[in-house]
Amino acid sequence: MIRMFLTGASGFLGWNFCRLFAKEWEIFACYNNHRVSIENVLACRVDISDFAELKEAFTTIKPDIVLHTAAASQPNWCQENPTASKKINLDATINLAGLCADASIPFIFTSTDLVFDGLNPPYNEKSSVSPLNLYAEQKTLAEEKIRASLNSYLICRMPLMFGYPGPAANNFIQYFFNEMSKGEKLKLFSDEYRTPVSVLTACKGLKLMIGRFAGTIHLGGIERASRYELGLLMKDVFGFKTALIEPCSHDDIPMPAKRPLDVSLDSSLAFSVGYDPLPLRKQMEEIENSKKFNHE
Ligand SMILES: NC(=O)c1ccc[n+]([C@@H]2O[C@H](COP(=O)([O-])OP(=O)(O)OC[C@H]3O[C@@H](n4cnc5c(N)ncnc54)[C@H](OP(=O)(O)O)[C@@H]3O)[C@@H](O)[C@H]2O)c1
Repeated sequence: MIRMFLTGASGFLGWNFCRLFAKEWEIFACYNNHRVSIENVLACRVDISDFAELKEAFTTIKPDIVLHTAAASQPNWCQENPTASKKINLDATINLAGLCADASIPFIFTSTDLVFDGLNPPYNEKSSVSPLNLYAEQKTLAEEKIRASLNSYLICRMPLMFGYPGPAANNFIQYFFNEMSKGEKLKLFSDEYRTPVSVLTACKGLKLMIGRFAGTIHLGGIERASRYELGLLMKDVFGFKTALIEPCSHDDIPMPAKRPLDVSLDSSLAFSVGYDPLPLRKQMEEIENSKKFNHE
């Protein structure tokens, strides 16, 4: 069985990936602050920003492949903590890529749609990058370093993802759920667009690409949507009849990290190799049917 080293086991994407595919690979996964235990996965604590710790984990595990989902994933936090976020998003990624290069094994990196400035959507893999905030800049630089240092790499640019985040992470859908359950007014951006998918779709897309595709690929959904539209869809699918959802502009809420207006991805390359996201409503219905979207 192929041995995978997965970073970010306690994160939204990494936890779901482990849960779905623990039997496809022999997975050794690491978390940092949030200890998790996942059936059929050997999970341990590794601070990837500490090179000695990372190297020790790598040489002990002796992986055949690395899937790197760990990140400082909140753009506002990265903007306010440039040194700490660089250590995680850029330095640790370069170090991990270097270890993979030395061991001649494939490296899979989860990047982001935010590498684009949002002015010329939709973006395909050949579109020029132009990050607007520090988080996106760190991910962009990490991509460049990976391309320069590895022969065997896969960079998957992930879109906005929604769904159950696992026991340790967070996802905006929990906030939507809580506010709608309470009947509180929810103001959501109606002028920021992305091509969201559920985390289950994203994990299936990642699995499909591993071993089948090399290079850079977009794993966006088939529909463009704002958070306001996602909120309305959730209200309808979950039956929150009294929920009050109002549109707002991202200019109304000043934030440390600048946000692009429309980073919709053109994912036709992935579609051509079998990635097949369902319509957003169907994906939201899958979440509703699972009755699992928050930690309670
Ligand atoms: N969520 C989205 O909508 C979205 C959209 C586009 C791209 N992405 C990308 O997709 C990937 C997964 O994102 P996500 O939403 O799953 O992120 P997340 O929920 O914030 O999880 C981040 C993970 O990284 C780990 N981590 C952070 N610092 C670490 C360190 N120093 N050492 C070891 N582990 C560390 C965290 O561990 P602890 O919690 O245990 O500390 C956690 O497991 C990231 O590359 C992100 O940039 C996400």
